[in-house]
Amino acid sequence: MKQFISILGLSAIICCFAIGCKQTENKELTTSEHPKDTSTVITYDTASIPPGPEREFILYGRELFVNTHTYLGPKGTVKQIAGNEMDCQNCHFDGGTRPFGNPLVTTAGRYPQYRGREGTVLTIQDRVNNCFERPLLGKHLDFDSKEMKAFAMYFKWIWDKNNNVLKIKGDLPNTLPWMDRKADWKQGKIDYDNFCARCHGIDGQGVKLPSGYGYTYPPVWGEHSYAIGSSMHRVGKLAAFIRNNMPNDMNVTHIRVTEEQAYDIAAYINNETVNSRPNFNEENIMYPNSKDKAVDYPFPPYADTFSQEQHRFGPFKPIVEYWKGRK
Ligand code: HEC
Ligand code: HEC
Repeated sequence: MKQFISILGLSAIICCFAIGCKQTENKELTTSEHPKDTSTVITYDTASIPPGPEREFILYGRELFVNTHTYLGPKGTVKQIAGNEMDCQNCHFDGGTRPFGNPLVTTAGRYPQYRGREGTVLTIQDRVNNCFERPLLGKHLDFDSKEMKAFAMYFKWIWDKNNNVLKIKGDLPNTLPWMDRKADWKQGKIDYDNFCARCHGIDGQGVKLPSGYGYTYPPVWGEHSYAIGSSMHRVGKLAAFIRNNMPNDMNVTHIRVTEEQAYDIAAYINNETVNSRPNFNEENIMYPNSKDKAVDYPFPPYADTFSQEQHRFGPFKPIVEYWKGRK
Protein backbone atom coordinates (compact mmCIF):
# COMPACT_ATOMS: atom_id res chain seq x y z
CA MET A 1 0.00 0.00 0.00
CA LYS A 2 2.83 2.38 0.96
CA GLN A 3 4.42 1.66 -2.40
CA PHE A 4 1.15 2.43 -4.14
CA ILE A 5 0.88 5.78 -2.39
CA SER A 6 4.44 6.74 -3.28
CA ILE A 7 3.83 5.81 -6.93
CA LEU A 8 0.81 8.10 -6.85
CA GLY A 9 2.95 10.83 -5.28
CA LEU A 10 5.65 10.41 -7.88
CA SER A 11 3.21 10.52 -10.78
CA ALA A 12 1.69 13.68 -9.32
CA ILE A 13 5.15 15.27 -9.27
CA ILE A 14 5.84 14.18 -12.85
CA CYS A 15 2.41 15.43 -13.84
CA CYS A 16 3.21 18.75 -12.16
CA PHE A 17 6.34 19.12 -14.25
CA ALA A 18 4.40 18.24 -17.35
CA ILE A 19 1.60 20.76 -16.82
CA GLY A 20 3.64 23.26 -14.84
CA CYS A 21 1.42 23.39 -11.76
CA LYS A 22 2.32 25.65 -8.87
CA GLN A 23 0.95 24.25 -5.66
CA THR A 24 -0.75 20.89 -6.10
CA GLU A 25 -1.84 19.41 -2.81
CA ASN A 26 -1.56 15.66 -3.03
CA LYS A 27 -3.38 14.60 0.07
CA GLU A 28 -4.37 11.10 1.04
CA LEU A 29 -7.93 11.31 2.33
CA THR A 30 -9.25 8.95 4.95
CA THR A 31 -12.65 7.40 4.33
CA SER A 32 -14.39 9.41 7.03
CA GLU A 33 -13.27 12.81 5.73
CA HIS A 34 -13.80 11.89 2.12
CA PRO A 35 -16.68 13.82 0.57
CA LYS A 36 -17.42 10.94 -1.72
CA ASP A 37 -17.64 8.58 1.24
CA THR A 38 -20.59 6.36 0.46
CA SER A 39 -20.58 4.41 3.74
CA THR A 40 -23.57 6.31 5.11
CA VAL A 41 -25.55 6.48 1.90
CA ILE A 42 -28.72 4.49 1.63
CA THR A 43 -29.32 2.62 -1.56
CA TYR A 44 -31.79 4.19 -3.94
CA ASP A 45 -32.76 1.00 -5.69
CA THR A 46 -35.53 1.70 -8.16
CA ALA A 47 -36.05 -2.07 -8.55
CA SER A 48 -37.80 -1.98 -5.16
CA ILE A 49 -40.65 0.24 -6.41
CA PRO A 50 -43.79 -1.87 -6.91
CA PRO A 51 -45.16 -1.96 -10.46
CA GLY A 52 -47.90 0.51 -11.35
CA PRO A 53 -48.41 4.11 -12.51
CA GLU A 54 -46.55 5.53 -9.50
CA ARG A 55 -43.46 3.54 -10.43
CA GLU A 56 -43.64 4.85 -14.00
CA PHE A 57 -43.75 8.45 -12.75
CA ILE A 58 -40.82 8.00 -10.36
CA LEU A 59 -38.65 6.37 -13.01
CA TYR A 60 -39.61 9.06 -15.52
CA GLY A 61 -38.74 11.79 -13.00
CA ARG A 62 -35.35 10.26 -12.37
CA GLU A 63 -34.70 9.92 -16.10
CA LEU A 64 -35.63 13.59 -16.73
CA PHE A 65 -33.32 14.60 -13.90
CA VAL A 66 -30.34 12.56 -15.12
CA ASN A 67 -30.69 13.15 -18.88
CA THR A 68 -32.49 16.48 -18.90
CA HIS A 69 -31.07 17.63 -22.24
CA THR A 70 -32.44 14.54 -24.03
CA TYR A 71 -36.06 15.26 -23.08
CA LEU A 72 -36.29 18.91 -22.10
CA GLY A 73 -33.20 20.55 -23.62
CA PRO A 74 -33.12 22.87 -26.65
CA LYS A 75 -33.56 19.79 -28.89
CA GLY A 76 -35.62 17.92 -26.30
CA THR A 77 -37.79 15.05 -27.53
CA VAL A 78 -40.64 15.89 -25.12
CA LYS A 79 -40.60 19.71 -24.81
CA GLN A 80 -38.00 22.39 -25.35
CA ILE A 81 -37.81 23.94 -21.90
CA ALA A 82 -34.12 24.39 -21.06
CA GLY A 83 -32.05 26.94 -22.97
CA ASN A 84 -28.75 25.07 -22.59
CA GLU A 85 -27.75 21.42 -22.78
CA MET A 86 -26.95 20.84 -19.12
CA ASP A 87 -28.60 18.16 -16.98
CA CYS A 88 -29.94 18.58 -13.45
CA GLN A 89 -27.48 15.88 -12.41
CA ASN A 90 -24.50 18.02 -13.51
CA CYS A 91 -24.87 19.85 -10.19
CA HIS A 92 -27.03 17.42 -8.16
CA PHE A 93 -24.92 14.29 -8.37
CA ASP A 94 -26.13 10.69 -8.61
CA GLY A 95 -29.71 11.66 -9.30
CA GLY A 96 -29.62 14.12 -6.40
CA THR A 97 -28.70 11.50 -3.79
CA ARG A 98 -24.98 12.01 -3.21
CA PRO A 99 -23.94 13.55 0.14
CA PHE A 100 -22.15 16.90 -0.38
CA GLY A 101 -23.09 16.79 -4.08
CA ASN A 102 -26.10 19.13 -3.67
CA PRO A 103 -28.42 16.26 -2.67
CA LEU A 104 -32.19 16.73 -2.90
CA VAL A 105 -33.03 13.84 -0.58
CA THR A 106 -34.73 16.00 2.07
CA THR A 107 -36.14 18.61 -0.33
CA ALA A 108 -39.66 17.17 -0.45
CA GLY A 109 -39.78 17.53 3.35
CA ARG A 110 -38.72 21.21 3.32
CA TYR A 111 -41.13 22.77 0.81
CA PRO A 112 -43.27 24.91 0.67
CA GLN A 113 -40.64 27.28 2.09
CA TYR A 114 -40.00 31.05 2.31
CA ARG A 115 -37.15 32.06 0.01
CA GLY A 116 -35.40 35.41 0.36
CA ARG A 117 -34.40 35.56 -3.30
CA GLU A 118 -38.04 35.67 -4.39
CA GLY A 119 -39.34 37.17 -1.14
CA THR A 120 -42.20 34.69 -1.06
CA VAL A 121 -43.15 31.10 -0.23
CA LEU A 122 -42.15 28.61 -2.93
CA THR A 123 -43.53 25.15 -3.58
CA ILE A 124 -41.25 22.37 -4.75
CA GLN A 125 -42.64 22.93 -8.26
CA ASP A 126 -41.63 26.60 -8.10
CA ARG A 127 -38.16 25.56 -6.99
CA VAL A 128 -37.80 23.10 -9.88
CA ASN A 129 -38.75 25.94 -12.22
CA ASN A 130 -36.15 28.19 -10.57
CA CYS A 131 -33.42 25.76 -11.58
CA PHE A 132 -34.89 25.53 -15.08
CA GLU A 133 -34.90 29.30 -15.32
CA ARG A 134 -31.43 30.15 -14.08
CA PRO A 135 -28.85 27.41 -14.32
CA LEU A 136 -30.62 25.99 -17.37
CA LEU A 137 -31.55 29.34 -18.99
CA GLY A 138 -35.01 27.97 -19.61
CA LYS A 139 -38.75 28.42 -19.40
CA HIS A 140 -41.12 27.17 -16.74
CA LEU A 141 -42.65 23.71 -16.81
CA ASP A 142 -46.43 23.70 -16.35
CA PHE A 143 -47.35 22.60 -12.85
CA ASP A 144 -49.88 20.09 -14.19
CA SER A 145 -47.58 18.64 -16.86
CA LYS A 146 -46.63 14.99 -16.67
CA GLU A 147 -42.96 16.06 -16.38
CA MET A 148 -43.50 18.30 -13.34
CA LYS A 149 -45.50 15.55 -11.64
CA ALA A 150 -42.67 13.13 -12.40
CA PHE A 151 -40.05 15.44 -10.83
CA ALA A 152 -42.19 15.93 -7.73
CA MET A 153 -42.88 12.20 -7.36
CA TYR A 154 -39.21 11.38 -7.77
CA PHE A 155 -38.25 13.84 -5.00
CA LYS A 156 -41.02 12.43 -2.82
CA TRP A 157 -39.70 8.93 -3.41
CA ILE A 158 -36.08 9.72 -2.42
CA TRP A 159 -37.44 11.51 0.69
CA ASP A 160 -39.55 8.46 1.60
CA LYS A 161 -36.58 6.18 0.95
CA ASN A 162 -34.68 8.23 3.52
CA ASN A 163 -37.53 7.56 6.00
CA ASN A 164 -38.42 11.26 5.95
CA VAL A 165 -35.41 12.17 8.09
CA LEU A 166 -34.77 15.90 7.76
CA LYS A 167 -31.00 15.93 8.12
CA ILE A 168 -28.60 13.71 6.23
CA LYS A 169 -24.82 13.79 6.11
CA GLY A 170 -23.66 16.26 3.46
CA ASP A 171 -27.14 17.76 3.04
CA LEU A 172 -27.90 21.26 1.73
CA PRO A 173 -26.97 23.98 2.17
CA ASN A 174 -23.55 23.18 0.78
CA THR A 175 -21.26 25.33 2.93
CA LEU A 176 -17.61 25.99 3.69
CA PRO A 177 -16.11 28.07 6.52
CA TRP A 178 -15.63 31.68 5.39
CA MET A 179 -12.05 32.43 4.46
CA ASP A 180 -10.30 35.27 6.30
CA ARG A 181 -8.93 36.95 3.24
CA LYS A 182 -10.53 38.15 0.02
CA ALA A 183 -10.74 35.50 -2.71
CA ASP A 184 -8.01 36.07 -5.31
CA TRP A 185 -9.36 35.41 -8.80
CA LYS A 186 -5.94 35.79 -10.42
CA GLN A 187 -4.55 32.97 -8.28
CA GLY A 188 -7.85 31.21 -9.05
CA LYS A 189 -7.02 31.22 -12.74
CA ILE A 190 -3.69 29.49 -12.07
CA ASP A 191 -5.41 26.89 -9.89
CA TYR A 192 -8.29 26.44 -12.35
CA ASP A 193 -5.83 25.80 -15.18
CA ASN A 194 -4.02 23.22 -13.02
CA PHE A 195 -6.96 21.39 -11.49
CA CYS A 196 -9.97 21.88 -13.69
CA ALA A 197 -9.04 22.73 -17.27
CA ARG A 198 -8.22 19.14 -18.24
CA CYS A 199 -11.98 18.45 -18.20
CA HIS A 200 -13.81 21.80 -18.36
CA GLY A 201 -11.29 23.35 -20.77
CA ILE A 202 -8.98 26.38 -20.43
CA ASP A 203 -11.85 28.32 -22.02
CA GLY A 204 -14.39 26.91 -19.52
CA GLN A 205 -16.64 25.63 -22.28
CA GLY A 206 -16.55 21.96 -21.28
CA VAL A 207 -16.62 19.01 -23.65
CA LYS A 208 -19.67 17.85 -25.58
CA LEU A 209 -20.83 14.24 -25.76
CA PRO A 210 -19.66 12.42 -28.91
CA SER A 211 -23.11 13.03 -30.44
CA GLY A 212 -22.47 16.79 -30.23
CA TYR A 213 -25.57 17.29 -28.06
CA GLY A 214 -25.24 17.38 -24.25
CA TYR A 215 -22.05 17.25 -22.21
CA THR A 216 -19.36 14.87 -21.06
CA TYR A 217 -17.93 17.82 -19.08
CA PRO A 218 -20.37 20.71 -18.61
CA PRO A 219 -19.34 24.33 -19.21
CA VAL A 220 -18.48 26.50 -16.20
CA TRP A 221 -18.83 29.90 -17.85
CA GLY A 222 -19.83 31.37 -21.19
CA GLU A 223 -23.16 31.60 -22.98
CA HIS A 224 -24.08 27.93 -22.37
CA SER A 225 -23.37 27.95 -18.63
CA TYR A 226 -25.49 28.91 -15.59
CA ALA A 227 -26.82 32.47 -15.61
CA ILE A 228 -25.85 35.30 -13.29
CA GLY A 229 -28.07 35.23 -10.21
CA SER A 230 -27.96 31.38 -10.05
CA SER A 231 -26.98 29.97 -6.66
CA MET A 232 -23.79 28.71 -8.30
CA HIS A 233 -22.95 32.29 -9.21
CA ARG A 234 -22.32 33.08 -5.52
CA VAL A 235 -18.63 32.65 -4.65
CA GLY A 236 -19.35 30.98 -1.28
CA LYS A 237 -21.77 28.44 -2.73
CA LEU A 238 -19.52 27.63 -5.65
CA ALA A 239 -16.44 27.32 -3.42
CA ALA A 240 -18.26 24.81 -1.20
CA PHE A 241 -19.39 22.85 -4.24
CA ILE A 242 -15.84 22.77 -5.63
CA ARG A 243 -14.15 21.86 -2.36
CA ASN A 244 -16.58 18.99 -1.79
CA ASN A 245 -16.90 17.62 -5.31
CA MET A 246 -14.27 18.70 -7.77
CA PRO A 247 -12.11 17.52 -9.50
CA ASN A 248 -14.77 14.94 -10.31
CA ASP A 249 -12.24 12.10 -10.13
CA MET A 250 -10.61 13.18 -6.85
CA ASN A 251 -11.42 9.88 -5.16
CA VAL A 252 -9.32 8.16 -7.81
CA THR A 253 -6.35 10.51 -7.90
CA HIS A 254 -6.65 11.68 -4.26
CA ILE A 255 -5.96 15.23 -5.36
CA ARG A 256 -8.38 17.61 -3.74
CA VAL A 257 -8.28 21.40 -3.77
CA THR A 258 -7.82 23.21 -0.45
CA GLU A 259 -10.52 25.53 0.93
CA GLU A 260 -8.49 28.57 -0.13
CA GLN A 261 -7.96 27.21 -3.62
CA ALA A 262 -11.70 26.50 -3.85
CA TYR A 263 -12.49 30.17 -3.01
CA ASP A 264 -9.92 31.50 -5.46
CA ILE A 265 -11.13 29.22 -8.25
CA ALA A 266 -14.77 30.15 -7.50
CA ALA A 267 -13.83 33.84 -7.71
CA TYR A 268 -12.19 33.28 -11.09
CA ILE A 269 -15.06 31.21 -12.55
CA ASN A 270 -17.70 33.64 -11.26
CA ASN A 271 -15.89 36.86 -12.15
CA GLU A 272 -18.15 37.78 -15.04
CA THR A 273 -15.91 40.68 -16.02
CA VAL A 274 -13.26 38.15 -17.16
CA ASN A 275 -15.52 35.15 -17.88
CA SER A 276 -18.82 36.15 -19.43
CA ARG A 277 -22.06 34.54 -18.33
CA PRO A 278 -25.66 34.74 -19.56
CA ASN A 279 -27.67 37.57 -18.08
CA PHE A 280 -30.99 35.83 -18.51
CA ASN A 281 -33.18 38.80 -17.78
CA GLU A 282 -33.14 41.74 -15.46
CA GLU A 283 -35.42 40.06 -12.94
CA ASN A 284 -32.46 37.83 -12.11
CA ILE A 285 -31.35 40.57 -9.79
CA MET A 286 -33.79 39.50 -7.15
CA TYR A 287 -34.29 39.74 -3.36
CA PRO A 288 -37.18 42.22 -3.04
CA ASN A 289 -36.10 42.68 0.57
CA SER A 290 -32.36 43.52 0.54
CA LYS A 291 -32.06 42.43 4.17
CA ASP A 292 -32.68 38.84 3.03
CA LYS A 293 -29.78 39.00 0.61
CA ALA A 294 -27.09 36.33 0.95
CA VAL A 295 -23.77 37.92 1.99
CA ASP A 296 -22.09 36.64 -1.18
CA TYR A 297 -24.87 37.72 -3.56
CA PRO A 298 -22.92 39.66 -6.18
CA PHE A 299 -25.44 42.38 -7.08
CA PRO A 300 -26.63 45.50 -5.23
CA PRO A 301 -28.67 47.07 -3.74
CA TYR A 302 -27.36 46.03 -0.31
CA ALA A 303 -28.90 46.84 3.04
CA ASP A 304 -25.41 47.28 4.55
CA THR A 305 -22.48 49.57 3.74
CA PHE A 306 -20.05 46.96 2.37
CA SER A 307 -19.00 47.41 -1.24
CA GLN A 308 -20.19 45.28 -4.13
CA GLU A 309 -16.57 44.13 -4.53
CA GLN A 310 -16.58 42.78 -0.96
CA HIS A 311 -19.95 41.06 -1.48
CA ARG A 312 -18.53 39.40 -4.59
CA PHE A 313 -15.10 38.27 -3.41
CA GLY A 314 -14.93 38.83 0.35
CA PRO A 315 -13.57 39.01 2.93
CA PHE A 316 -17.02 37.78 3.94
CA LYS A 317 -16.51 37.42 7.69
CA PRO A 318 -17.01 41.14 8.49
CA ILE A 319 -20.31 41.08 6.58
CA VAL A 320 -21.45 37.94 8.41
CA GLU A 321 -20.49 39.60 11.73
CA TYR A 322 -22.38 42.78 10.82
CA TRP A 323 -25.58 40.86 10.17
CA LYS A 324 -25.42 38.74 13.33
CA GLY A 325 -28.48 39.58 15.40
CA ARG A 326 -29.78 42.12 12.87
CA LYS A 327 -31.90 39.81 10.69
C1 HEC B 1 -25.44 24.77 -12.46
C2 HEC B 1 -25.84 23.93 -11.36
C3 HEC B 1 -27.27 23.48 -11.22
C4 HEC B 1 -28.07 22.85 -12.14
C5 HEC B 1 -27.72 22.48 -13.55
C6 HEC B 1 -29.31 22.56 -11.46
N1 HEC B 1 -29.28 23.01 -10.19
FE1 HEC B 1 -30.73 22.82 -8.80
N2 HEC B 1 -29.62 23.84 -7.45
C7 HEC B 1 -28.33 24.26 -7.66
C8 HEC B 1 -27.83 24.91 -6.45
C9 HEC B 1 -26.43 25.48 -6.26
C10 HEC B 1 -28.90 24.89 -5.52
C11 HEC B 1 -28.91 25.49 -4.12
C12 HEC B 1 -28.14 24.64 -3.17
C13 HEC B 1 -28.05 25.25 -1.79
O1 HEC B 1 -29.04 25.84 -1.31
O2 HEC B 1 -26.97 25.13 -1.19
C14 HEC B 1 -29.99 24.19 -6.18
C15 HEC B 1 -31.22 23.93 -5.58
C16 HEC B 1 -32.22 23.15 -6.13
C17 HEC B 1 -33.45 22.78 -5.46
C18 HEC B 1 -33.85 23.18 -4.04
C19 HEC B 1 -33.26 22.23 -3.06
C20 HEC B 1 -33.67 22.50 -1.63
O3 HEC B 1 -33.83 21.52 -0.91
O4 HEC B 1 -33.82 23.66 -1.25
C21 HEC B 1 -34.17 22.00 -6.32
C22 HEC B 1 -35.53 21.36 -6.09
C23 HEC B 1 -33.40 21.90 -7.54
N3 HEC B 1 -32.21 22.59 -7.39
C24 HEC B 1 -33.79 21.20 -8.66
C25 HEC B 1 -33.09 21.20 -9.86
C26 HEC B 1 -33.61 20.62 -11.08
C27 HEC B 1 -34.94 19.90 -11.21
C28 HEC B 1 -32.68 20.84 -12.05
C29 HEC B 1 -32.77 20.52 -13.51
C30 HEC B 1 -33.93 21.04 -14.19
C31 HEC B 1 -31.55 21.55 -11.41
N4 HEC B 1 -31.85 21.75 -10.10
C32 HEC B 1 -30.40 21.95 -12.07
C33 HEC B 1 -27.58 24.11 -8.80
C34 HEC B 1 -28.04 23.56 -9.99
C1 HEC C 1 -12.01 14.53 -14.35
C2 HEC C 1 -12.83 15.58 -14.97
C3 HEC C 1 -13.15 16.79 -14.15
C4 HEC C 1 -12.29 17.64 -13.50
C5 HEC C 1 -10.78 17.58 -13.43
C6 HEC C 1 -13.12 18.67 -12.91
N1 HEC C 1 -14.43 18.46 -13.20
FE1 HEC C 1 -15.99 19.66 -12.71
N2 HEC C 1 -17.28 18.32 -13.48
C7 HEC C 1 -16.93 17.16 -14.13
C8 HEC C 1 -18.13 16.42 -14.48
C9 HEC C 1 -18.18 15.09 -15.22
C10 HEC C 1 -19.22 17.17 -13.99
C11 HEC C 1 -20.67 16.79 -14.06
C12 HEC C 1 -20.90 15.63 -13.12
C13 HEC C 1 -22.18 14.85 -13.38
O1 HEC C 1 -22.95 15.19 -14.27
O2 HEC C 1 -22.35 13.84 -12.66
C14 HEC C 1 -18.65 18.39 -13.39
C15 HEC C 1 -19.40 19.41 -12.85
C16 HEC C 1 -18.88 20.63 -12.44
C17 HEC C 1 -19.65 21.80 -12.10
C18 HEC C 1 -21.16 21.91 -12.09
C19 HEC C 1 -21.73 21.96 -13.46
C20 HEC C 1 -21.33 23.19 -14.23
O3 HEC C 1 -20.70 23.01 -15.29
O4 HEC C 1 -21.60 24.32 -13.79
C21 HEC C 1 -18.76 22.77 -11.76
C22 HEC C 1 -19.07 24.19 -11.35
C23 HEC C 1 -17.44 22.20 -11.85
N3 HEC C 1 -17.53 20.90 -12.28
C24 HEC C 1 -16.27 22.87 -11.52
C25 HEC C 1 -15.02 22.26 -11.51
C26 HEC C 1 -13.83 22.87 -10.95
C27 HEC C 1 -13.77 24.26 -10.36
C28 HEC C 1 -12.82 21.98 -11.09
C29 HEC C 1 -11.39 22.11 -10.61
C30 HEC C 1 -11.21 22.25 -9.18
C31 HEC C 1 -13.36 20.81 -11.77
N4 HEC C 1 -14.71 21.01 -11.97
C32 HEC C 1 -12.61 19.72 -12.16
C33 HEC C 1 -15.66 16.75 -14.42
C34 HEC C 1 -14.50 17.32 -13.94
